Amino acid sequence: MSRVFRRAADPPVAVRGEGVWIEDASGGRYLDAAGGAIVVGIGHGDPVVAAAVEEQSRHLAYVHGSAFTTEPLEAYAAELAEVVPVPDPRVFPVSGGSEAVETALKLARSYHLARGEPERQVIVSRHLSYHGNTRGALDVSGRPRLRAPYEPWLGHAIHVPAVAEYRCPAPGHPLGCGAWHANELERTIEDVGSGRVAAFIAEPIGGATPVIGDRYFLAHPKVSTLVVKDSAATPATLVAGTDYTADVDFGALQFLNLGSFTPPFKASYAYGAVNEVGIFTQPLPERYLRLEGLNTAQGNAKVLVELYRVAFDPLKEIAFISNDYNKFELEGSLLADATKPIDATLGSFGRIVQL
Ligand SMILES: Cc1ncc(COP(=O)(O)O)c(C=O)c1O
Repeated sequence: MSRVFRRAADPPVAVRGEGVWIEDASGGRYLDAAGGAIVVGIGHGDPVVAAAVEEQSRHLAYVHGSAFTTEPLEAYAAELAEVVPVPDPRVFPVSGGSEAVETALKLARSYHLARGEPERQVIVSRHLSYHGNTRGALDVSGRPRLRAPYEPWLGHAIHVPAVAEYRCPAPGHPLGCGAWHANELERTIEDVGSGRVAAFIAEPIGGATPVIGDRYFLAHPKVSTLVVKDSAATPATLVAGTDYTADVDFGALQFLNLGSFTPPFKASYAYGAVNEVGIFTQPLPERYLRLEGLNTAQGNAKVLVELYRVAFDPLKEIAFISNDYNKFELEGSLLADATKPIDATLGSFGRIVQL
């Protein structure tokens, strides 16, 4: 019997990871498309990271932040400061998303206290959002099922409508939704009293929550005998047509109802043989483009345009995407060729020769 208080019923044992793949103890491979909770952005098993961790643990494992700083922390903060869109930033390192949210909420409160505005204590967030599972983060989160058991401990945050394309509550949807949501936020702040609001928190992209109406793709098309279950201790089976619809030909799911279920969801199914066509099988070629034409603005004088290095948009190159005959439309990136003389108009990208 496992001594782990598990968060999912009978999960596979992950033993190693490489790049986007996770491998379990029985050799099963999983495409880690979301990088866990969108945290393994550089992939698994990166040798540079492994070497840095090994090197650092030889020098120093841990010191408390209230007593010491360290060179790696200072270097990391300096590097991060270069890219965050905040003037003169400071970095407060924590160990995860919930702790980051708790800290951000406390920082907002501390800021207003320091400015002599102690009445600013309300946090505004969005319905259906996920900001973590610790108490403060849960309070700003807008997930009814996660909140339900702890409601007596919650209630300091106020929620505005979720910005979700499907079932968008804006009356003029799909037009003017951005302005409608901005107005809802403004109206809520005014209702609460603008002097009482400490912060507004929102996910730039809703990631941790399956979204009702969005399409989720199975690993295979031509699916049959599909069963979708949740991750409760006794997994519940979602009802096709009520909780989700499936496009079995394309292998896609659309959730209709997530109310009482415990994500993540697991789909088991059989799938048929398919014919696959390989595309993008080689590195994209760079092309030299030469146009011979007439300059109609200058008495039809002959003109030669040369573009030395062009990387065309690969989608425009796939023949089956074009429906039009005789249509000459190209899109791509123009690259400089440092070996060619500089042209007055096109620099080192090409030349225009009036003949
Ligand atoms: C937007 C957002 N905030 C906070 C969290 C909580 O992060 P953690 O699980 O590291 O506590 C998550 C996790 O999925 C998240 O997606």
